[in-house]
Amino acid sequence: MASDQPQAFPAPDPLDLRRAFGRFGTGVTVITARTPEGQRLGVTANSFNTVSLAPPIVLWSLALHSPSLAGFRAAGRFVVNVLALEQLALAQRFARPAPDKFAGVDCSEGRHEQPVLAGCAASIECRIVGDQPVGDHVLFLGEVEHYAHSATAPLLFCNGQFQQGVGLADRQG
Ligand SMILES: Cc1cc2nc3c(=O)[nH]c(=O)nc-3n(C[C@H](O)[C@H](O)[C@H](O)COP(=O)(O)O)c2cc1C
Repeated sequence: MASDQPQAFPAPDPLDLRRAFGRFGTGVTVITARTPEGQRLGVTANSFNTVSLAPPIVLWSLALHSPSLAGFRAAGRFVVNVLALEQLALAQRFARPAPDKFAGVDCSEGRHEQPVLAGCAASIECRIVGDQPVGDHVLFLGEVEHYAHSATAPLLFCNGQFQQGVGLADRQG
């Protein structure tokens, strides 16, 4: 007899689940912010995605255990720095805890004094319009207030590794 009850799903092996999720290729961003006290925050993140064009809304998620979480919430704004291919070192730098991740990093101030990294494929300045704990992460929603982009090739991430894209245009036909 068919049941309306949802099937119980055994808890997946986290490493195997990560492998499955990792088949989805993404770009690589460093999400930056400045707290009201002036502390600069930066975290490498590939959870960035777009949600809506009108109004322009984006999302990303930060681990609940991140020491930067309270700061991002207090900042009220964030910048999505979409990394260019030659910015692999920045992706690695902002993926590890450090006393000052910004030391020696070429950076300017955005419209609301948020850090904007130089040389990125795109920078998207956002005002936080929602932050919601979901499982072991907090989901941030941001409304875009300003953006810029360049023709530089973006850094990619897939199968747990940094990648460079190869256009398929020549294979079509
Ligand atoms: C390619 C890549 C993507 C990542 N994406 C995320 C992400 O979307 N959210 C997150 O919380 N951590 C992500 N991380 C891990 C953080 O960058 C890392 O935990 C970092 O130390 C967080 O900064 P914090 O120590 O200041 O919290 C990613 C790491 C890499 C290498």
